[in-house]
Amino acid sequence: MNCSLNFELSCKLLIPAAGSGRRMGSDRNKLLLPLLDKTILQWTLESVIASSSISWIGVIAQPNDFPAFEQIFSSLKSPITLIKGGETRQESVFNGLKALPESSQSVLIHDGARCLATPSLFNRCAEALKIYSGLIAAIQVKDTIKIVKDGNVESTPDRNYLWAAQTPQGFSVKELKQAHLQAQALNWSVTDDAALFEKIGLPVQIVMGEETNLKITTPQDLAIAEFILRQRIKK
Ligand code: CTP
Ligand code: MG
Repeated sequence: MNCSLNFELSCKLLIPAAGSGRRMGSDRNKLLLPLLDKTILQWTLESVIASSSISWIGVIAQPNDFPAFEQIFSSLKSPITLIKGGETRQESVFNGLKALPESSQSVLIHDGARCLATPSLFNRCAEALKIYSGLIAAIQVKDTIKIVKDGNVESTPDRNYLWAAQTPQGFSVKELKQAHLQAQALNWSVTDDAALFEKIGLPVQIVMGEETNLKITTPQDLAIAEFILRQRIKK
């Protein structure tokens, strides 16, 4: 059984939010930085809550951020479970999987740093999770991508096959847990969950992502995000 046998509000969602934001160069977790009148994490959570498909939210965080995160949660209308994060995103997600309600068959995972993902993207991924046991939001790349070694271009992959991975990503909980266990045993280190699915030979379906679904990583991303949000507010 997965989301398909439940009613509309049926999917569980984990938000990895336990990073430090090193590339942002700020004095705190970048998710606590202001973006217009809210923190980045608050924008992410409000979009999740505005979607009609998420019934349970778990936020994975470092304990030193718990008080600030709890304060953000107190201003929202949905209950949120706090889960202790790990050293890497991979470890954080694994902790999140272990903290899911026992009955969970499938799960969406969405980076706290992707605060511009719209409610309809969450709904689209939740719908697709009724059919597929592994999926990622992704968009086709616009640049020509080069494989480079020691400053030298080695090759140019055919752009028709290149997609930029985003989150949400959705999986069967049982299979993703197995993939994480195998990764732990064999010391695999990856930057998204789909990569673990691929490594153990499980299929991963593409769901159309959003060009504006940036992962806020550097100060420039913050400026672009601010511009996009102002445009949305005007409409
Ligand atoms: N993340 C996490 N646990 C970690 C590291 C990252 O939950 N140990 C989360 C981040 O909070 C973020 C998402 O994974 O929402 C994607 O990671 P990234 O954008 O790389 O964020 P940071 O790791 O915080 O940034 P940086 O790599 O620049 O330090
Ligand atoms: Mg990181």
